[in-house]
Amino acid sequence: MRRSRIVGVGSYLPANRVTNEDLAKRVDTSDEWITQRTGIKARHVAATGETTSMLATKAATRALEHAGLKASDIDLIIVGTATPDFTFPAVATQVQANLGITHGVAFDVAAVCSGFVFALATADRFLTSGANKRALVIGAETFSRILDWTDRTTCVLFGDGAGAVVLEAYDAAGTPDDQGILTTHLRSDGRHREKLYVDGGPSTTGTVGHLRMEGREVFKHAVGMITDVIHDAFAATGYSAGTIDWFVPHQANRRIITASADKLGIAPEKVVLTVQDHGNTSAASIPLALDTAIRDGRIRKGQVVLIEAMGGGFTWGSALFRL
Ligand code: UT7
Repeated sequence: MRRSRIVGVGSYLPANRVTNEDLAKRVDTSDEWITQRTGIKARHVAATGETTSMLATKAATRALEHAGLKASDIDLIIVGTATPDFTFPAVATQVQANLGITHGVAFDVAAVCSGFVFALATADRFLTSGANKRALVIGAETFSRILDWTDRTTCVLFGDGAGAVVLEAYDAAGTPDDQGILTTHLRSDGRHREKLYVDGGPSTTGTVGHLRMEGREVFKHAVGMITDVIHDAFAATGYSAGTIDWFVPHQANRRIITASADKLGIAPEKVVLTVQDHGNTSAASIPLALDTAIRDGRIRKGQVVLIEAMGGGFTWGSALFRL
């Protein structure tokens, strides 16, 4: 059977690193509060003129280098983002142009913090159907541009960044021992819009708007939704908390990650945690964490990795793959 497998990873964080102490000079907060409630110690903020497509292109270039491939080897680009450079065109087409690719197809998916999982699942469908051969799957965000920097309940939580993987179709045996994506599960429920949204847009205010969140409400739903789609992934593949090698969750909040891992019985040493270094980078967070743990040698070829995310919409999803 045809499967898709990850053959390269890359990520990029903007140079400007903003610590909790830096933020405490701007809003009524403290390093102690942010660390205790979220685990975040610092986030990166894009420079003036540095856009989502620029971050995405840097992460994509690193993923291509890691894979040992040329840009022309790619015939599909999918970007998960909620902070595009412009209302249109898609960030993906700008990445395509930046990389000098003139063939194939490029488009964005809007699933906010679940954007990378949704983009990966979509690319997997395109590759396993035979429609395309090699994809760049990217999560890229400049959330700093939609934050209300006077609202301490949200501005301390988010950051900018990008991560990418190169996904390649191949003929597999069709067993759970195969390399590549073994299952994906996506869900959404639009009734929760008011709990996490941006209060502007082209068709409402004609402005970009600011992020608004009822943090406690999101937190309440997060763990249940995350564990549900992970149970789906385990049921579909026969893998379990005990037999996966790594858990690379969406990096929103250390407490949500720990509570989810505890509920699922995933051992703490299997959890990849990078939220302390970049805050919640929405769709970029999973490929950022994945890139970190692959490059530092923790995640090795042949190991089984579980990813999950939950975010605005609500949207949520999981994917399980063997590297
Ligand atoms: O990717 C999905 C997107 N979102 C999330 O994953 C976020 C999910 N939610 C969360 O992570 C948590 O709910 C937060 C980190 C946002 C908040 O933590 P919490 O433990 O739920 O705190 P809370 O909202 O219940 O607020 C507790 C107190 C409040 O004061 P009072 O009302 O108890 O006097 C807040 O005003 O903390 C106060 N507070 C702050 N204090 C210092 C809120 N933000 C801050 C702050 N600094 N930045």
